[in-house]
Amino acid sequence: MALYSETVMDHFRNPRNVGVIEEADGVGEVGNAKCGDIMKMYLKIEDDVIVDVKFETFGCGSAIASSSMATEMIKGKPVEEALQLTNKAVAEALDGLPAHKLHCSVLAEEAVRAAVEDYYKKSGDTN
Ligand code: FES
Repeated sequence: MALYSETVMDHFRNPRNVGVIEEADGVGEVGNAKCGDIMKMYLKIEDDVIVDVKFETFGCGSAIASSSMATEMIKGKPVEEALQLTNKAVAEALDGLPAHKLHCSVLAEEAVRAAVEDYYKKSGDTN
């Protein structure tokens, strides 16, 4: 059996939503101290709905696939729903990750959460 699912390979080879959003409404950057991988997530939000999302990941293939899948899962969703995104849901949507690569999907969950929290902080400032 292949170590990585076809879905993981697809999102690794052809990641969705790669890039930067200038003047994003929320930006989250997280890293894993052990492997040194870094993930940055940008959100464009209108009326509490994520209308656009982009990411930059300096990391392993599973981290790239996880961030790509996570962006697909939260695009068009209300921010509260994005906060509910779990690494388990990301890994399941990827048709599984090897056990020692599950932390890569945790990074995606944390990056989304950090970006949403940044949005809340910023929108709180302007009120
Ligand atoms: Fe650390 Fe994948 S090896 S994020």
